[in-house]
Amino acid sequence: MSSVAIVTGASSGIGAATSRRLAAEGFHVLAAARRSDRLAGLVAEIEAAGGRATAVACDVTSDESVAALAEAAGAAPGPVTLLVNNAGGARGLDPVESGSVEDWQWMYDVNVLGTLRVTQALLPALEASGAGTIVVVSSTAGLGVYEGGGGYTAAKHAQTAIAGTLRLELNGRPVRVIEIDPGMVRTEEFSLVRFDGDAERAAAVYAGVPEPLVAEDVADCVAWCATRPHHVNVDRLVVRPLAQAAQHKVHRVGQ
Ligand SMILES: NC(=O)c1ccc[n+]([C@@H]2O[C@H](COP(=O)([O-])OP(=O)(O)OC[C@H]3O[C@@H](n4cnc5c(N)ncnc54)[C@H](OP(=O)(O)O)[C@@H]3O)[C@@H](O)[C@H]2O)c1
Repeated sequence: MSSVAIVTGASSGIGAATSRRLAAEGFHVLAAARRSDRLAGLVAEIEAAGGRATAVACDVTSDESVAALAEAAGAAPGPVTLLVNNAGGARGLDPVESGSVEDWQWMYDVNVLGTLRVTQALLPALEASGAGTIVVVSSTAGLGVYEGGGGYTAAKHAQTAIAGTLRLELNGRPVRVIEIDPGMVRTEEFSLVRFDGDAERAAAVYAGVPEPLVAEDVADCVAWCATRPHHVNVDRLVVRPLAQAAQHKVHRVGQ
């Protein structure tokens, strides 16, 4: 019987790559996100490669939707041992002075309250497995701030706080908590979402950067942490591309 892994935000980028990778590692993956059409394509791809996955339409900002995800996890064919809280993203790059409350609200709802809601719903099953793992995909934006990043860094700092707090609170119980903090990852949609579909602005984020991380690099980190023996708790894994020494220190060729 395969262990079951739940991945939120599985319809693109890091979540899709993590779902593929965990399926290749032998997990039955519950791939959750709002866009069912994309999830169906992902599941077909995983199955064609010999893996097992189920698509679950889920909006992490909805109590009902997350309750249905927990129900799907309960019906899955195996113990639920892994939750990857990956759904999230950024909106806008405005200074605090003029940032949109609506953007901040969206970032808080998806990154922070989404992680809270899904974690609360899945914790009983993870604990019942006797060897649960919760991964929180936060960001280097959860460890430091930058101009224009107020809303996103606030949300990611909050996610980081959830991971740290939860690890303390679960001490003595069979569930480990792992925080993964990627720096610059070139995914198809992250910057497009941030800049409301402005492809030129999105491309400029990665302009001249030799080899930003790709989704598969982060999936590799998730898989490595999650497949260590269960007594090994990687508290926090910070991963950046070689070209990014710090949030503000990025090597760009020809600039
Ligand atoms: N790319 C980077 O540079 C980078 C760096 C550090 C950390 N991260 C973090 O890594 C995670 C994934 O980022 P990515 O680059 O893979 O971005 P992405 O391609 O934009 O993926 C975001 C995912 O979140 C899902 N999502 C958004 N709102 C949702 C909701 N309400 N309910 C359920 N799912 C929702 C989206 O699916 P649907 O739209 O189908 O719901 C999508 O699958 C995010 O938490 C992000 O903050 C990214």
